[in-house]
Amino acid sequence: MAAHEMIADDLLAPAASADPHRVLATLREQDPVHWSATHRAWLVTRYDDVAAALGNKALSSDRVRPLLEARKSHDASASDRIRELLSEWMVVTDPPAHTRLRRLAGRAFKQQQISAMGERIERLVDSLLDEFVAGGHTDLIAHVAYPLPATVIAEMLGAPAGDRDRFRHWSDELALVAFGTGGQARPDRHERALRGLEELFDYLRSLVELRRTQPGDDMLSAMMVDDSSGEMLTEDELVGMCALLLFAGHETTTNSIANGVLALLEHPEQLALLRREPETITTAVEELLRFDGPIKVLNRWVVEDFDLRGRSIRSGERVYLVIAAANRDPARFAEPDRPDLSRNPNPHIAFGRGIHACIGAQLARLETRIALAEVVERLPGLRLDDGRPEWKASLASRSLTELTVAHDAAR
Ligand code: HEM
Repeated sequence: MAAHEMIADDLLAPAASADPHRVLATLREQDPVHWSATHRAWLVTRYDDVAAALGNKALSSDRVRPLLEARKSHDASASDRIRELLSEWMVVTDPPAHTRLRRLAGRAFKQQQISAMGERIERLVDSLLDEFVAGGHTDLIAHVAYPLPATVIAEMLGAPAGDRDRFRHWSDELALVAFGTGGQARPDRHERALRGLEELFDYLRSLVELRRTQPGDDMLSAMMVDDSSGEMLTEDELVGMCALLLFAGHETTTNSIANGVLALLEHPEQLALLRREPETITTAVEELLRFDGPIKVLNRWVVEDFDLRGRSIRSGERVYLVIAAANRDPARFAEPDRPDLSRNPNPHIAFGRGIHACIGAQLARLETRIALAEVVERLPGLRLDDGRPEWKASLASRSLTELTVAHDAAR
């Protein structure tokens, strides 16, 4: 057996969930285009290769269909219906379907003037931190990082204020869908996901109706307006787009805030720098996204044979583009395993690259900046409460189970 075939490559093993960077460094150095029998996928770990792969037409994003087809034998009816609901999401489509959806969503995003949302997000973070301190809570995820993004997306879509808790609940159910996030171990996850999705889609349909008769300055109303070319999203597409925004923007942003706080706590000299020079927050957020960003792996299917570093990659195979490894490639970043909040330039690919690059990146950055800045400012003496936090066993996302902290803020 060749040495590279013996590399421990199980990214879901407990040690790799706790610290993926060690195993990823070995792969990146010794076998940067690695066939993993464990994952039945190619693991691509060098920055240049991952960045190039994100623009390679031989790699398809149409990944829900084959994934669910492979599972069909276990769970036919639920998978089929989930597939119907989700296979149209732009994140899992290729051009030309993707091009049209992305253009129509991109236009509505532009109209939202994300930069003007800062004040509203500050007020939200403030009130979450008020409750966190006054209630004597300790888990920053449950009380701050988790509720913030769902509330922001619900508001952005124009959902009435009273419905925001339901949004958070649906967002949880969405995370159970078979994308490798959350609850892998739950045998009933397809049924639960399906029930949650059906409820969410029904709700979104009624929201579409409401905004059709009473348009507002929200993003859903903006997505209903005729494009200059006369093109519009169909009702199903509108509903699907809203669900996608909730799915794509919630857990990721929660993890961006939580992983960022943890990295600061584990590197006190960087936390001290941020306290001393709060204006560092902009480069700090980029660095924290590079250092331990929310997305570990992006999944692609090969639709055309190609060669990479002497390996023959064949149509029908699966490729994992390991963002977490690329973002710590020493060929691209000096001292990659050390967070340096003033790192600049910082060409990380935590938001992907190419045609599917994150459409919500500006919003995610704004929320993360405001949340981190306020946590640091309002919680003096912030420290980890209870030993080392645990990471979820998830292939796609880098996600903590909880983040319990202590601090010296007066109640
Ligand atoms: C720090 C938080 C976030 C991170 C790290 C992140 C990361 C990513 C990445 C890596 C992709 C590319 C996926 C691929 O190539 O397969 C992506 C796509 C996407 N993201 Fe984000 N995201 C974040 C927050 C958000 C937010 C807040 C929203 C919306 C409210 C959002 C909406 C989307 C959508 C709709 C796509 C699909 C774009 C397309 O297929 O063209 N994301 N995101």
